Amino acid sequence: MSKIVAIVSSPRKQSNSADIVDKMIEVAKANGNEVQRFSMNDLEKFMGCQACMACKKSGKCVRKDDIAPIIDAIFQADSVILSTPDYFGQPCAQYRLLEDRMYSFIGPNFVPFIEAGKKVAVVVTCASGVDGAVQISKNITGVMTNFFKFESVGEIVYSELQNGPAKDNEQVMAEAAEMASKL
Ligand SMILES: Cc1cc2nc3c(=O)[nH]c(=O)nc-3n(C[C@H](O)[C@H](O)[C@H](O)COP(=O)(O)O)c2cc1C
Repeated sequence: MSKIVAIVSSPRKQSNSADIVDKMIEVAKANGNEVQRFSMNDLEKFMGCQACMACKKSGKCVRKDDIAPIIDAIFQADSVILSTPDYFGQPCAQYRLLEDRMYSFIGPNFVPFIEAGKKVAVVVTCASGVDGAVQISKNITGVMTNFFKFESVGEIVYSELQNGPAKDNEQVMAEAAEMASKL
């Protein structure tokens, strides 16, 4: 049994990235894993990283807001599922807030406090800008593997203009199920 944290960053009610992540959660739970799902857009009290560097001494982010429990959950998890829509060739702001707060996972000289070998799966959705979304996905995976020593189990990049709503697309749902089985 693995502890998995799933991050949904999209603000949309009908969200392709959320539907792909939710398929992964369904499969991961059916495989006997414990999954915690967080929706970044539902948070009320939060700030971006203040670059205070307190984490470089303690290994913990000292800000006590709605992002703090998510950072703690990722720190303790075996695997994470990270998702974001492509907004102008970047992850959405809701995702970036979380990503910067993960700076607390690394100590002075970029040596990680967080245990190496956790698994990461990345989901990025876009309208038609697949090249940009692929780059976002690679960047997110790169941060997790290079800085925090996670192991990538795969990436899904999904264009809604090319493929329609994700929840109705059997191929992407099958890809999501397969990726979830590797967590
Ligand atoms: C502010 C904003 C910027 C966007 N920029 C792009 C973009 O540069 N390229 C693209 O292909 N789609 C862009 N989109 C479209 C979304 O990426 C697309 O609708 C995606 O499916 C949303 O994912 P979601 O359904 O998980 O929210 C943008 C949407 C918004 C709201």
